[in-house]
Amino acid sequence: MPTDPSEVSVGIQDLTFATTSLCLTHEELARHTGAPLAKYHHGIGQTAMSIPAEDEDIVTMAADAAAPIIECHGSRKIRTILFATETGIDQSKAAGIYVHSLLRLPPHIRVVELKQACYGATAALQLACALVRSDPTQQVLVLASDIARYDLDSPGEATQGAAAAAMLISAAPDLVELHTPTGLFTHDVMDFWRPNYRTTALVDGKKSNDAYLEALEGAWHDYQARGGLPFEKLRTVCYHQPFTRMAHKAHRRLERTANTTAPLQDIGQAIAPTTTYNQTIGNSYTASMYLALAALLDSDTDLSGDTIGLFSYGSGSVAEFFTGTISPNYRLHLRTEAHETHITERDTVGYETYRRLHTRTLPTDGTAYELPHQTDGRYRLAGIHRHQRLYQEAPP
Ligand code: HMG
Repeated sequence: MPTDPSEVSVGIQDLTFATTSLCLTHEELARHTGAPLAKYHHGIGQTAMSIPAEDEDIVTMAADAAAPIIECHGSRKIRTILFATETGIDQSKAAGIYVHSLLRLPPHIRVVELKQACYGATAALQLACALVRSDPTQQVLVLASDIARYDLDSPGEATQGAAAAAMLISAAPDLVELHTPTGLFTHDVMDFWRPNYRTTALVDGKKSNDAYLEALEGAWHDYQARGGLPFEKLRTVCYHQPFTRMAHKAHRRLERTANTTAPLQDIGQAIAPTTTYNQTIGNSYTASMYLALAALLDSDTDLSGDTIGLFSYGSGSVAEFFTGTISPNYRLHLRTEAHETHITERDTVGYETYRRLHTRTLPTDGTAYELPHQTDGRYRLAGIHRHQRLYQEAPP
C-alpha cells in the first residue's frame, strides 16, 4: 500500500442512477407551447423530461439510486455519505440522513449535505477522493439528487428534469480512476439562482450559457497551468448537460480554447454517447454530469484504458475540469439494464397532469397530510406530520 496519498489510486467503484416514475415528452409540450418540435429535439437536444410523482422527491430518488450499491458492496467500509443537492427539503437536517435511515445503514457514518448549484456533486466527489486517499480502507457514498423546476411557460420550462446519481468512491476503483491536477474557476455571476422563498429557479438563459462557456475556458486554463493533459489525450469529455445541445457547444468551445492541432473530431460522434440519458431525463442539476458519464460507460464504445475529461458547472458560479481513466474491466461492473429500465418504465403523462403536478404544493402548517401512492420506486414520501417528512419503503 503506498504511503504517499497522491500515489493511491482512487475513483468511482460503482455508479448508478434513478429517476422519477413519470415523464412528459417534448412532443406533448410542443403541442401546447406552440414551439416547433425541432427546436426542442435539435435546438436544445431534449426529447422528454422526468416529472416527480406526488410521493417522490430528492430523498426517494437518492435512496432508489443508492440501494443497489449497498446491496452489492455492503456498508461496512462506508464512513461518509455526501449528499449534493440544490432542491433541499430542510434548511437544517441533511437529506442524506433520511437515505441512511431508509437503507438501514449502520450509525458509524458521517452524513452531510453540500450545495453549490449543479457543481455540488463534484465538490462531494473531490472531498470523497481526498478522504479515501487519506485512508484507502474507507469508502464514501456520494449522492446527487435534484428536481429542476422553472416557471410554467418560461423559456427554461423545456429544460426541466429530475434524477439522482449514486457513486461509491474507493481505492483501486473498478470503473474510473480519477486524477489530479484539476482546474477550478469561480466567478460571482447572477445567471441562475433560487431564493429560499421560491420553488422555481430564476434564470437569465442567455447569460447562463455565456457564463457556462466562460467557466469552461477558465477551468481549462487553470487545469493546463497546473500541468494537466493536452486536449488530444482525451478520448472525449462528459459535460454538465442542462440540455444536451449545451455539451456540443461546450466541446466546440473547448476545442478552440485548447487550440488543438489534431484534426477536429466530429463533435456529434464525440459527444452523442454522453447524451442518451440526459436527453430523455432532462436537467438533473447535480446528477447531470454523472448521468452523462453513466451513458458514456453504458454505450457501445469500448473505453478500456482511455482517459476522458469531465466538466462540472454550477451556476453562480463554480466550475471544475478534471480527468479520469477508465478501468480495463469496467464493462463487468456496469448497470446498463437497470438504467434502461428506469427510463423506459416511466409513465408518460399528459400536459394537464404535468401542470397540476407542477403547481401543487405541500402543506406548510404542520397538519397531518397523506400522499397518494403513485411512485413505482422502492421508496416513497408517505406524508407530512407535525412538519416532519415521513418516508417509507413502498409496499409492493
Ligand atoms: P429559448 O430562448 O427559448 O431558446 O431558451 P432559443 O431561442 O435560444 O433556442 C434554443 C436553440 O434552439 C437555439 O440554438 C435556436 O437556434 C434553436 P443555438 O442558436 O443556441 O445553437 N432553434 C431551433 N433549432 C431547430 N429548429 C427550430 C429551432 N428554433 C430554435 N425550429 C434556453 C433556451 C437554454 C435559454 C432556455 O431553455 C433556458 O433558459 N434554460 C435554463 C437555463 C439553462 O439551462 N442554462 C444553461 C447554462 S447554465 C447551467 O448549465 C446551470 C444549470 O444547470 C443550473 C445549475 O447550475 O444549478 C441551469
